[in-house]
Amino acid sequence: MSHTDNIQLELRKFVAPEFIFGADARLLASNYCKQLGCKKVLLVTDLGIAATPWLAELQEGLLENGIEHIVFSSVSPNPRDFEVMEGADIYRASGCNMILALGGGSVMDCAKGIGIVSTNHKSIEKFEGVDKIGYPMPPLICIPTTAGTAADLSQFAIINRYDQKYKMAIISKATVPDVALVDPVVLTTMDSFLTACTGMDALAHAFEAYVSNASSAFTDMYALEAIGLMNANLLASIQNPTDIQFRGRVMLASMYAGLAFSNASLGCVHSLAHSLGGYLDLPHGECNAILLPHVVDYNFNKAELKYLTIAQKLGVDIMGKALPEAKKQIVEYIISFKESVGIDSTLGTKGVKSDLISILSDKAINDPCNATNPRVPTKADLASIYSEAI
Ligand SMILES: [Fe+2]
Repeated sequence: MSHTDNIQLELRKFVAPEFIFGADARLLASNYCKQLGCKKVLLVTDLGIAATPWLAELQEGLLENGIEHIVFSSVSPNPRDFEVMEGADIYRASGCNMILALGGGSVMDCAKGIGIVSTNHKSIEKFEGVDKIGYPMPPLICIPTTAGTAADLSQFAIINRYDQKYKMAIISKATVPDVALVDPVVLTTMDSFLTACTGMDALAHAFEAYVSNASSAFTDMYALEAIGLMNANLLASIQNPTDIQFRGRVMLASMYAGLAFSNASLGCVHSLAHSLGGYLDLPHGECNAILLPHVVDYNFNKAELKYLTIAQKLGVDIMGKALPEAKKQIVEYIISFKESVGIDSTLGTKGVKSDLISILSDKAINDPCNATNPRVPTKADLASIYSEAI
């Protein structure tokens, strides 16, 4: 943007929690527990994190500081409604007064759900949609262990309604944590595939926030920076898993994308991925990686200038190209980028058959993320995107 370009002057709000970014930020957890008046903390995590050094280290720190805690680790990838309810029961029965989440998006979303349920005394599905939370949750500290979801910064919690096989989106300022301790050191124990999937999730956040019809000058700035950083560093962070600079840049990209999408919301990549991931219990980032090029193809004509700006950030040479050719090159670049980081699946290879498409589109059309997509989708449009992605 030059200093004479028109700026967007529609009213926009920007919400972000307090966060600390940097190496060893995780070690501040006990200090923040004390600051927030902790008597006893529910430490929400999962079995994957329990196998890393980070959980034991955090527990030792709490013990050394005289902070009583109880661990809740029954959290699945794509966290389930009944896990939230079980966690809330344990929170109340144990006399906790705050929550500490150590994990990826699933853990942090489950922790948010536990917090909401524990103060509002209703079943988690009652909070589905936008601004449905009556009372604030207890203090929540998040230590993210992946770089993608940005649940530690966002106004989103995604919970799987297990019996109904779909993921509900809970969107509210009341789901924003009190503090995020964002530490690239904890990323060094992530494997290549998890790094790739979570990185592609963040890239999808940035794309969707940038072309969202609720975007602003603030979210655009973060979204574009996220795209450039992720594009330049995701593969290198996979190839050099212990390099804290690469991990740090990818973490920063995830944070920028998180600040962008938390405030500009998302689009059809996420509405389609929520339905797909909920029905087949697939990794969220992998679903996004598969769907992103197809949604760019679908959306392109409604946000041409923005996609051309994205192309420049990605280093795609579109100078002098006609729009259809530019679109083709951007789509091809995304496909080659996701394959370069090790994601070569299609919906077909993930087990999606054409007879599932109607069921998936039925659920996807009701997802709130459609509302901010630059092109308003019909159910037939969503079905057609699924078909192309098989
Ligand atoms: Fe996402």
